[in-house]
Parts: sequence; structure tokens; C-alpha cells
Amino acid sequence: MTAPNDSEQLKRYAEDLNQTIRELKQANAKLRRQVEVEEQARVVQQKMIHLNKMTSLGTLAAGIAHEINTPISYILGNSQILEELWQDVERVLRETVDNPEKLVLAGIPFTDIREMIPKMLKNNVQGARQISTITSKLKDFTRQPPEKRGRTDINRALEYAVAILDKKIRKCTNHFHFKLSRQLPPAKGNIHEIEQVFINIILNALQALPDKTCEVSVSSAFAKKNNEIMVTIKDQGRGMEPAVLDRIMEPFFTTRENSDGTGLGMYIAYAIVEKTGGNLEISSKPGMGTEVTVCLPAEKIEA
Ligand SMILES: Nc1ncnc2c1ncn2[C@@H]1O[C@H](COP(=O)(O)OP(=O)(O)OP(=O)(O)O)[C@@H](O)[C@H]1O
Ligand SMILES: [Mg+2]
Repeated sequence: MTAPNDSEQLKRYAEDLNQTIRELKQANAKLRRQVEVEEQARVVQQKMIHLNKMTSLGTLAAGIAHEINTPISYILGNSQILEELWQDVERVLRETVDNPEKLVLAGIPFTDIREMIPKMLKNNVQGARQISTITSKLKDFTRQPPEKRGRTDINRALEYAVAILDKKIRKCTNHFHFKLSRQLPPAKGNIHEIEQVFINIILNALQALPDKTCEVSVSSAFAKKNNEIMVTIKDQGRGMEPAVLDRIMEPFFTTRENSDGTGLGMYIAYAIVEKTGGNLEISSKPGMGTEVTVCLPAEKIEA
């Protein structure tokens, strides 16, 4: 008589156990969803912090550039006058001072001064010109053209950028591939600004190539699902270390300080793309090249 009762009880235990397992599974799924939501919130928060940092850095940089403009024009103008003036001063000293080789000014022998001053003045002019380039890049960028929204033909902007860079392209690579989709809807944004984005990114790709055998490819496509136009600029250049990749969009960040790099190219590209409502995706590995994808929202075409 005890056996049926036992089996009844066992059945109940089994049901209870199943119920507990179901509840645990539900709790587990809920927890997973919560973790996912928290992760998404963290990513959004990080993006906002980054955007905020970039915006304030950009405003600060543009403000400083504006203030620098006037003093830099004095330095440039005065240095050029001093260069001419020195040629006369040097000649007069040579001709009028007895034994100019023995002359010492500010503790420096005249023979050294004659070599030093032209070099110092030349460096001043070069430095001042470089600062001028930076400020005018920032000025161009902050002086917003009237907003011409919509109907921006991305392929036309790409063709323009490639035409502007034609000489540089031929100098840097024998393998430039240009593949445009003919099925693109118009994009949002200002065409002149979008052209600037492509010029800056293609130029970086070219500057990263170690020799002419390395490729650069530029292509456009339409991602219907996201209603986005995607432009990909891929190079077989030297690529980037993670530490460089992390900072690439900061204003004035450059690893080309010894060339003519100002560190504004990617910052300006980023700011324009963000403003247009798009985004920039970059992947790069040292020695493996770089791929930059510019995603721009397409303009909705009225049916
Ligand atoms: N395609 C690329 N391959 C390798 N490194 C790159 C690439 N694009 C950018 N970088 C790195 O990112 C840095 C910042 O790029 P950015 O275009 O902002 O400035 P820049 O090219 O140094 O100077 P500027 O564009 O103002 O003349 C570069 O100095 C370079 O180190
Ligand atoms: Mg650049």
C-alpha cells in the first residue's frame, strides 16, 4: 500500500523540480537580457563621453586657432623683414668692423652668428607658416557654408576627391581601384563637406603606403536595410597600433609631425560625418593596412 503513495510523492517532487528548473531558466534569461541592456547602455554612454570630448576639444581648438591668427601674422611678416635686414647688417658689419672674425656679440663669435641667424630666421618663417596652415584649416572647417541639405551625390563627391588627389595617387601607388555603385540614392549632408571627408581619408591612405606596389581601393555601396550609403577606403599601408587607432580622431593627433601633418584630417572628417548623422568605422592592424568605412544616411526619396 505504500508504493502508490511513494510514487505519487515522487511525481510531485519531479513536478516541483521541473517547475524550479523552469523558473531558474526564466530568471537566467531575464538576467541575460539585463546584462545585454546594461552593456548597450555602457556603449552608448562611452560614445556620448567620446562625442562630448571631441566637441569640446574642437571648440577649444577652433577658439585657440582664431586667437593665434593675428600674432602669427606679425611673426611671419617680421621674420621676413628681418631676413632681408640681416643681409644688410651682416654686410655692413663685415665691411666696417676691423677684424670682424674677432667680433663677439652676446657671447657668440661673429663667424658663428653669420651662420646661425639666417637658419634661425628661416626656421621662424617655416614654423609660422605651419601654424598658419593649421589655423586656416580650422577656420575653413568652422566657417560653416550655408547648409545645403539632401540630394548630395556621393559618387560625384568621390570623383571630385579623386580628381583633386590625382597627382598624389599616381605618385604613391600603381594600384588604385575605384569602384562606384551606380545604384546610390542621394545622401544627406553638404556636398563640399562630404568631399572634404573623402579627400582627408584617401590622402591618409596614400600617405600610409610604403611603396607603389601597395593598393588603395575606394568603393561605394548602398545598404538598403539601414538606408545608408557606405563608402569604403581600404589601403595596404603600414596600418596602426591600437594606441594610434584610439586617438586617430583627436584634433592635432599626428604621427607625421616630421612631415607636414597637422593632425586635423581625421578630426574634421569625423566631425562632418557625425554632424551629418552618419558614422565612421575604422579597422587597422600594424603592417596589415587600414579600412575606413564612411556610413552616411540616405535621403528618403518621395514615392
Ligand atoms: N590610413 C592610415 N594608415 C595608417 N595610419 C593612419 C591612416 N590614417 C590615419 N592614420 C594615423 O592617424 C594620424 C592622424 O590622422 P590625421 O589625418 O588626423 O592627421 P595627419 O594625417 O597626421 O595630418 P593632416 O591630415 O592634418 O595633414 C596620422 O598621423 C596617422 O598616424
Ligand atoms: Mg591626414
